[in-house]
Amino acid sequence: MDKFVITGGTPLTGEVTISGAKNAVVAILPATILAEDVCRIENIPNISDVSAMINILSIMGAHVKYINKNTIEIDTRYINSYVVEHELSKQLRASYYLIGALLGRFNHAEVAMPGGCYLGVRPIDQHIKGFEALGATVTMEENAMVNARADKLLGNSIYLDVVSVGATINCMLAAVKAKGLTIIENAAKEPHIVDLANFLNTLGADIRGAGTDVIKIRGVEKLHGCEYSIIPDQIEAGTYMVAAAATKGDVLVKNVIPKHLESITAKLIECGVEITEYDDSIRVRMTRRPGKCNIKTMPHPGFPTDMQPQFSVLLSQAKGMSIISESVWDNRFRYAEQLSRMGAVIHVDGKTAVIEGVDGLRGAPIRADDLRAGAAMMIAGFIAGGVTEIEDIHHIERGYENVVEKFRALGANIERREFPDDDQKIQLGAG
Ligand code: EPU
Repeated sequence: MDKFVITGGTPLTGEVTISGAKNAVVAILPATILAEDVCRIENIPNISDVSAMINILSIMGAHVKYINKNTIEIDTRYINSYVVEHELSKQLRASYYLIGALLGRFNHAEVAMPGGCYLGVRPIDQHIKGFEALGATVTMEENAMVNARADKLLGNSIYLDVVSVGATINCMLAAVKAKGLTIIENAAKEPHIVDLANFLNTLGADIRGAGTDVIKIRGVEKLHGCEYSIIPDQIEAGTYMVAAAATKGDVLVKNVIPKHLESITAKLIECGVEITEYDDSIRVRMTRRPGKCNIKTMPHPGFPTDMQPQFSVLLSQAKGMSIISESVWDNRFRYAEQLSRMGAVIHVDGKTAVIEGVDGLRGAPIRADDLRAGAAMMIAGFIAGGVTEIEDIHHIERGYENVVEKFRALGANIERREFPDDDQKIQLGAG
């Protein structure tokens, strides 16, 4: 069992380059199923969610060639199955994009319900509503297999009852080759939705309005190959920005789209962090204890839920009391227990957390409950006096490329160390 071992107390300084966006690439890779030629995709982050998706596509018959560690050529013409069993789909949440993509290509998809972080109930009713509007019959079968089948997909209006990233993407994937016009209303507006639309349009699709809440898709008969580069990861960038601020550091975060980071920079400025924006980088500098602030997570362009745990760590050091309201997920404060072990004062009541700022944290053996909670625990470790050991780091490695190397280059004292399983049980106790 590997853990991250962090000796905290060093301000992070220097430069970090942000990788390609996880939540864009995990949609764009399944989208290649719809292309009838080779797609060359650049700026792919080397993270385990991406390897899992590439592995699934390869097992299904796609030919994948690595040009270098961040660029692949993928040819999905050899895929001849529309079935994805649980053993594969459980590896990541985004495996549900295979439903929309396979349905769009074969008019048939059988995909087991996906895995991913536990953040509360994660229904897919809006995805199903979209597929049905396009003419598919969707049933849930044994082993939680979602079976979606259509004689022919026909464009239609789809009104999403909740703003859902996954449902918006799945509807786009299924609609892109459906005959006629599809209109997705109340669509999600995240940068990765726009990136997927740009990718599909580069393949020859006709998608307009991505990035607004109405997306119009005129179905096309064929999609060809392309060359495409994934956008920088908004949440990875935000994580390094908060880490810089929380350690009272001075970091230039490079290869970002500052517009995508506005909700994060606004809150950092509110806490007293100095922010300087350049064309494709942002400098984050902090010299004192942060001020308190209140946060409510919202779909884009609101404050992203995927930055909420990291911000809690920053606010755990604030002068005064901050309130965080989580409005996207039902259960995204599990990390509060870990943070309390390090001396933070955080009271959770349902989807609200009240944080009373303290000056400093102390190192402790803790756990990464999920991907972003894990990133938050790393930041807590960088602040804390003494040694912090984080277990279940596989969650973190699902979404952060070279995370140890990148933080070490900023001066953090962190290493990935192997521990015997028994040793770990003694340190953490039961449960
Ligand atoms: N929802 C429904 N019905 C549906 C779909 C969603 O009720 O059919 C609800 C969810 O329960 C939730 C809300 O709608 O309350 C938003 O869910 P959404 O579908 O937008 O989330 P997702 O697509 O499952 C993606 C990201 C998450 C991120 C959310 C919100 C990927 C692979 N995952 O999840 O990212 O938190 O959008 O922005 O893109 C992460 O990267 O750490 C992560 C968890």
